[in-house]
Amino acid sequence: MSEQPNITYPQLITLYEVSRKINSKLNLPELLDETMDLAIELLHAEKGVLLLRNKTTGELEMKVARAMDKSRIADAVALVSRTVVRKVESGGQSLLMQNVPDSPGLNPNMSLIRRKIKSVICVPLRSREKLVGCIYLDTTDKQHFFKTEDLAFLEGFANLAGIAVENARNYRQVEEVNRNLESLVDERTQEVQAKHNELQSAYDQLKDTQMQLLRSEKMASLGMLVAGIAHEINTPLGAINSNTDTFSRCCGKLRDSIQDCGLEQGANAKTIDVLDNLSKVNVTAVERITKIVKTLRNFARLDEEDYKQVDLHEGLDTTLTLTAHLSRARINCVKKYGKIPQLTCYAGQLNQVFMNILVNSCQAIEGMGAITIETSHKDGAIVIAISDTGIGIAKENLDRIFDPGFTTKGVGVGTGLGLSISYRIVEEHGGRIEVESRIGKGTTFTIYLPVK
Ligand SMILES: Nc1ncnc2c1ncn2[C@@H]1O[C@H](COP(=O)(O)OP(=O)(O)O)[C@@H](O)[C@H]1O
Ligand SMILES: [Mg+2]
Repeated sequence: MSEQPNITYPQLITLYEVSRKINSKLNLPELLDETMDLAIELLHAEKGVLLLRNKTTGELEMKVARAMDKSRIADAVALVSRTVVRKVESGGQSLLMQNVPDSPGLNPNMSLIRRKIKSVICVPLRSREKLVGCIYLDTTDKQHFFKTEDLAFLEGFANLAGIAVENARNYRQVEEVNRNLESLVDERTQEVQAKHNELQSAYDQLKDTQMQLLRSEKMASLGMLVAGIAHEINTPLGAINSNTDTFSRCCGKLRDSIQDCGLEQGANAKTIDVLDNLSKVNVTAVERITKIVKTLRNFARLDEEDYKQVDLHEGLDTTLTLTAHLSRARINCVKKYGKIPQLTCYAGQLNQVFMNILVNSCQAIEGMGAITIETSHKDGAIVIAISDTGIGIAKENLDRIFDPGFTTKGVGVGTGLGLSISYRIVEEHGGRIEVESRIGKGTTFTIYLPVK
């Protein structure tokens, strides 16, 4: 140990430069290399070694070993005097041996003597008052030795290096935390994305269920409405029916009694004829009303169990009757019915499909036009093609017409539900709907229903 001289002013300037240089390094290996090179250069040492305490083993470990020309020294462990390092480590004080060969009481077997070291200097590296390592420099140059000012300078230098090492280690920790944070954020983002997907599919399902509910609700209320109307109409219809019957019988009786009384026929007979004719018109009108009520009940299949064998031609005919008011005198309906087997199905639901497609066709025809319904039995499926000579569907809309809520008909006219509901119904029957359309020419919807 030598006494502590003051640092000179030029050395202070150098220290300031050094602190700027090493503080700009946050990468620990780079910082250690730079520290070592600077120490060797500033003290004109031949070689230098930097040791740091291993946090797990507690031992001082060699981190960098550099020669004057900044090259790495391979087998540096053997080149460091363990005696010197141990002294610095245990005493916590710097050590300077200016002229090793002349130092009294040295063991001639000591590595310093064997390696013909002229001068050696070693100072502790401290961080928060704790010894975390040391800087070791030596030289074999017979002309050169380390001075006491060098020791003071190196101590100042080591203090700065200690802080820089601490900073770099903190930075490394922050980086680590950052990396962990980033992967945590990634993980969370993935979780959020998964939750989002889950929500999206739940939302889709909800929309689907809502549509189904709407559909069953619509069907139920339609059924109830039809049943109600049919019931309400049937009672007065019965009255009119029997009255008409009584009325025409009364007319007959009146004619007989005029004849029996020998009254003059002329005007009376004419009046009775008029009454008779009126009664006949009433009978036809009542028959028509009865037929319509029956058709309505048929359409909603109120009289039948849900799932049963039916002839789809009947369903098509019933539906055509109900849509007749949309097409009368304007649209020519052509039926090209082929030979098809009976189908086990929900007939009321399939009628709704025919209705939705036929109403769309009627609405697509502006002015005069034609609707053709062609049926056939191909490859184990009943095929029903409904074509119209209407306005057609734009290419960009073809993929969207089956989406719930898609309509081009404006608020109040279209609900955009007809085709999506139809699609679902046909799908539930194991079938599919295809569409072909040309703008200005017309559209064909083809329904395929497999026969089981
Ligand atoms: N035969 C057709 N000709 C032209 N466009 C059609 C035809 N059928 C359906 N579309 C188009 O598909 C859309 C969706 O039909 P739909 O689901 O029945 O709903 P809406 O009839 O209430 O609009 C219609 O708005 C229309 O643009
Ligand atoms: Mg529609």
